[in-house]
Amino acid sequence: MISDEEGIAMTILVTGAAGNVGRHAVEELLREGHRVRALTRDPARARLPRGAEVAVGDLAVPDGLAPALEGVTALHLITFDGGDGAALRTGPRIARLAAEGGVRQVTMLWSGEPGPVEKAVAAEGLPWTALQPQEFMSNALNWVDSVRTEGVVREPFGGTLSNMIHEADIGAVAARTLTEDGHTGREYVLTGPEVLDMPQKAAILGRALGRDIRFVELTEQQARERMRQAGASQEAIDHVVGWYADPPKEAYTVTDTVERLLGRPARTFAQWAQENAEAFR
Ligand SMILES: NC(=O)c1ccc[n+]([C@@H]2O[C@H](COP(=O)([O-])OP(=O)(O)OC[C@H]3O[C@@H](n4cnc5c(N)ncnc54)[C@H](OP(=O)(O)O)[C@@H]3O)[C@@H](O)[C@H]2O)c1
Repeated sequence: MISDEEGIAMTILVTGAAGNVGRHAVEELLREGHRVRALTRDPARARLPRGAEVAVGDLAVPDGLAPALEGVTALHLITFDGGDGAALRTGPRIARLAAEGGVRQVTMLWSGEPGPVEKAVAAEGLPWTALQPQEFMSNALNWVDSVRTEGVVREPFGGTLSNMIHEADIGAVAARTLTEDGHTGREYVLTGPEVLDMPQKAAILGRALGRDIRFVELTEQQARERMRQAGASQEAIDHVVGWYADPPKEAYTVTDTVERLLGRPARTFAQWAQENAEAFR
């Protein structure tokens, strides 16, 4: 177990611990020998990594979070509310509780723009590091059904380039910046090692599965309708379609941040596809 300079055992609280990124952050911290507490609203469903202490709590109801924050020196914070995917409006209360509880380092997982959590953490004077991943490779799991049944990936804007990142790399960067000096006040734009368009992603997935996977381009109208049927809000639809139609430069520019921070190259989509091939069979 890792202790600070006064010999006090550090407990690190990971929020969103059952999610794509949080799960990897927990595993990485445990591998490095840290004491990890994993927050979930529903421990029965969360299937958290063995070795993590489980804490039950809802970031949207922060007054119940005091036990989860007890003895916590470092905190990985999601900045969105799973309820409607919007920015967590309870940021100020969470930040106050964290500061009062003795948290000395915070990582924040960016949701697209600085929201109430980021502003509150800074206003509270907590040392923070902002993690700004672009597209997660795990978004490819949206293709499971069409790949399984038809051998097809359907998306709009097939020519859009993306520097998609493996979610395990985001988790590993979170673990590193929570436990190492020198990252305070830094905003890290995190990307994978290459840019790919949609047909390239489908071809890479096909190679991992050992079968041809075709890319079929949807019209913008079809893409909007699909998201509407899946229950997305108009705001979310506009955001996603707008992003793919006209992505910001950060979405198709490769950074070396993952490699600099972790001392090894960022994982490729080919690696992700190999690791996740079973999900598509
Ligand atoms: N997908 C992308 O391409 C992309 C790109 C850049 C940024 N992002 C951002 O990354 C975030 C998504 O991260 P992810 O994929 O790791 O998440 P995820 O897999 O969707 O997991 C969501 C996690 O958040 C927890 N959670 C949600 N609301 C909560 C609440 N009110 N209180 C406590 N826990 C709550 C859930 O925990 P329980 O259900 O166990 O309580 C779950 O573990 C979003 O903010 C998104 O904007 C995504």
